[in-house]
Amino acid sequence: MASPEIIDHDYDVVVVGAGGAGLRATFGAVAEGLKTACLTKVFPTRSHTVAAQGGVGAALGNMAEDRWEWHMYDTVKGSDWLGDQDAIEYMCREAIPAVYELEHFGVPFSRTTEGRIYQRPFGGHMRNFGEAPVQRACAAADRTGHAILHTLYQQSLKYKAQFFIEYFTLDLLMQDGACRGVIAWNLDDGTLHRFRAHATILATGGYGRAYFSCTSAHTCTGDGNAMVARAGLPLQDMEFVQFHPTGIYGAGCLITEGARGEGGYLTNSEGERFMERYAPTAKDLASRDVVSRAMTMEIREGRGVGKANDHIFLHLEHLGADVLHSRLPGITETARVFSGVDATRDPIPVLPTVHYNMGGIPTNYMGEVINPTADDPDAVVPGLMAVGECASVSVHGANRLGTNSLLDLVVFGRAAAKRCARLITPDTPHAPLAEDAGEPSVAMLERLRTAKGSRPTADIRLDLQKAMQADAAVFRTAESLAHGCQSVDAIAETVADIKLADRSMVFNTDLVEALELENLIINAKATIQSARARTESRGAHAREDYPERDDDSWMKHSLAWVDEAGKVRLDDRPVHTYTLTKDVEYIAPQKRVY
Ligand code: FUM
Repeated sequence: MASPEIIDHDYDVVVVGAGGAGLRATFGAVAEGLKTACLTKVFPTRSHTVAAQGGVGAALGNMAEDRWEWHMYDTVKGSDWLGDQDAIEYMCREAIPAVYELEHFGVPFSRTTEGRIYQRPFGGHMRNFGEAPVQRACAAADRTGHAILHTLYQQSLKYKAQFFIEYFTLDLLMQDGACRGVIAWNLDDGTLHRFRAHATILATGGYGRAYFSCTSAHTCTGDGNAMVARAGLPLQDMEFVQFHPTGIYGAGCLITEGARGEGGYLTNSEGERFMERYAPTAKDLASRDVVSRAMTMEIREGRGVGKANDHIFLHLEHLGADVLHSRLPGITETARVFSGVDATRDPIPVLPTVHYNMGGIPTNYMGEVINPTADDPDAVVPGLMAVGECASVSVHGANRLGTNSLLDLVVFGRAAAKRCARLITPDTPHAPLAEDAGEPSVAMLERLRTAKGSRPTADIRLDLQKAMQADAAVFRTAESLAHGCQSVDAIAETVADIKLADRSMVFNTDLVEALELENLIINAKATIQSARARTESRGAHAREDYPERDDDSWMKHSLAWVDEAGKVRLDDRPVHTYTLTKDVEYIAPQKRVY
């Protein structure tokens, strides 16, 4: 193909991704008077936020007394003291106005009999600094993400935000250490586009598809993380991958934790409610890392259910058809379709399944991307921001509490828009881009488009997913991680032999999948190498050979750089052991008791 024509665009702000965080940042920036474009590889309402079920966390206190300081304490404890407490304070405090803002935008929350927003219990959310479960998850039945995503999209239309839909962003345009915009491929007509911007906000979601069994959409391929790595910037805390306790056995689809919030419980092959042994206070509502490990232990010790004793039962039948149909209609249908179970009569077969990436692009609480220097561990990259699951703010630390993801999207999407408003004067002219800006990305696209090897993308991706599932699982050891590092490196080598059948530039999904595979590999390498290096157990990172948390050596964020040759370099930066304001004190590390 002759050198393709590149179409140039100028904006104040470019947002990549149109899930909850991307949409909130997009119309927030428009509302601040900034010329803003939102690029997305899927139609906005197909973004993965749509799949979030159980609720968005905020201490509204609609069901019983609650306080944002208790929410903050639970989030710090849930993070196993790897979260940055300034950012956690900001998120938990802002949660209350953020949820009322969603209500005013039109989110159809479920209601109490008094007409207030309905709130259900969720894992790890407690009253009075860990005393007993509290109802903090603001729910729209079990389709909260769906309700929020559609409402935020409607708000974006109201603000006349400009969308570039089915544009696959290839890379950041970096110049002199600053981000100057992005280069993207329009799937619909095959054209290439450079978007110059004073701020580029990545909101590209997680990379659950690096694993074989996950609750993530097929589009969750860590594209923004990979762009950041290709720009020579670090990824943070990538070893912390959350397994959700209740993925449907065999299919991986999510059964919301809200099901246990409504009174559901887990049993083993002896019919025992085993969580009472592992977490005597929180029981089935302990945080996800704790429940996932307990389920894995039960299965390992021969108390799994089913013919192969390889899964666990989730009971909802005692809740009754009325509760299931009013509060949990989505998962009742999912259970019927994906496991053939009528949840009003029989238990649902479940297994811990990859659900969320706590790690990602390091940022501060305003969404600015961090690239530490020798003098400043919090130095920011001019022009580059990240929000939502692709970012590591870090409010989730080593383990995210359920409902804090939807919250993170809206709080930090809004914060990033506000930060842009402070930093950018609308319509400020752009400095010229280098003539060859974006050329390496076009070369990468061309290399894949014309690849004539022997291995289909799907085969290489499956090898990667199986390697990650086997060796970077709920429990990890030095042996499993060393084996996993070798496997992932060997699998990455096979991309040299990739085979693409479609040579066109127009809606070439073969090429999209190959680009996504390259992105997944970068994420997988950073994950497994960071996991191998971290010789302690913390949150979702459970090392059987290092079962204790080691604050002296490891209360720090890991950083991973993945270079062009695929080599990984590791370093670290300090956790923020301070709060944002004097309203709350720093919460010192404690042993986690449930
Ligand atoms: O279980 C769930 O509904 C998931 C919620 C979350 O990950 O926040």
